[in-house]
Amino acid sequence: MARGKFITLEGIDGAGKTTHLGWLRERLEQKVGPTGHAVVMTREPGGTPLGEALRHILLHEAMDLETEALLMFAARREHLAQVIEPALVRGDWVLSDRFTDATFAYQGGGRGLPRDKLEALERWVQGGFQPDLTVLFDVPPETASARRGAAREPDRFESESDAFFTRTRAEYLRRAEEAPYRFAIVDSTQSIEEIRRQLDGIVAAL
Ligand code: TYD
Repeated sequence: MARGKFITLEGIDGAGKTTHLGWLRERLEQKVGPTGHAVVMTREPGGTPLGEALRHILLHEAMDLETEALLMFAARREHLAQVIEPALVRGDWVLSDRFTDATFAYQGGGRGLPRDKLEALERWVQGGFQPDLTVLFDVPPETASARRGAAREPDRFESESDAFFTRTRAEYLRRAEEAPYRFAIVDSTQSIEEIRRQLDGIVAAL
């Protein structure tokens, strides 16, 4: 039986990821449904009971930067073991709101944790495993912060400065340059309709 595909969505806070999530899921279901398989929707940090507990701590409690990176990868290990790997083996597709690229972007680019430490954790936790497709919603930090606006009480990441998100965005783009075969970069300053048209093309090519 064919393995399912693993698709991740990335971007800085306010890039518009959430706007497109539900729509993209439906598109994927239309594609995968006829084969008898499901689209499993999940997120990071989170995706398992332990991961969701860690998410709450990570988003709201101050901690040492290395602790933060280790907890992101601990939640990820559990997520891979409990949710992602079993689904892909069943032939289901998995759509995850964030994955490892976010740790490189936020803890590496944004907070400045040395990349070699993150690469070591990446190898430990996932070996050579990578998403089949990563859609990166790319937007200038100023646009993103205007969109985040006063929508709600910001968490530990959403309250970061434009300078932080400039570094985060740069690391996302560097990761994309390093692995162009799995990245699709979407210019998230475009209209929702234009972005959907682009996403349609990306899904069709899968
Ligand atoms: P996010 O995915 O934006 O969810 P919501 O739309 O509900 O706010 O929130 C998750 C936050 O966690 C986001 O600010 C990025 C951060 N994050 C990291 O810093 N490192 C990681 O490895 C992951 C997965 C997320």
